[in-house]
Amino acid sequence: MKLLVINGPNLNLLGVREPSVYGTDTYEDLCNFLKECVLNKDVELEIYQSNHEGAIIDKIHEAYYNKTNGIIINPGAYTHTSIAIMDAIKSVMIPTLEVHLSDITKREEFRKVSYIGLACEKRIMGKGFLGYQEAIEYFIK
Ligand code: DQA
Repeated sequence: MKLLVINGPNLNLLGVREPSVYGTDTYEDLCNFLKECVLNKDVELEIYQSNHEGAIIDKIHEAYYNKTNGIIINPGAYTHTSIAIMDAIKSVMIPTLEVHLSDITKREEFRKVSYIGLACEKRIMGKGFLGYQEAIEYFIK
């Protein structure tokens, strides 16, 4: 099974950005964690991060041509703004899960709106790195 994990803007700065919200583990730690999650599993995992909306959309389109089976996306702040990323997910018809490290329903009002969620099968939030693991397992099952 081919899975693609997409992390959006500022997630490359994990460990540096707002540690009280996102913790002290780095983006590299997250990538290593994800690789461990698929060890000895029949999963081909690609991990992608971009700070650019268009690049994320291009990656979603690429997933269609690569016959990717599932997408796990933490769109960062684009969650709350990007109709274009939502449309891209709807366009490719690849089952997609939305993951957030923090619980976006318990933060500022503007984070409660998720355009991306309108195109996703499921949202997992507030579980830190374990949310990504839950998303991977969801696809494996
Ligand atoms: C986030 C939550 C978003 O509101 C924020 O803009 C992020 C990270 C999370 O993982 O909790 O960049 O997606």
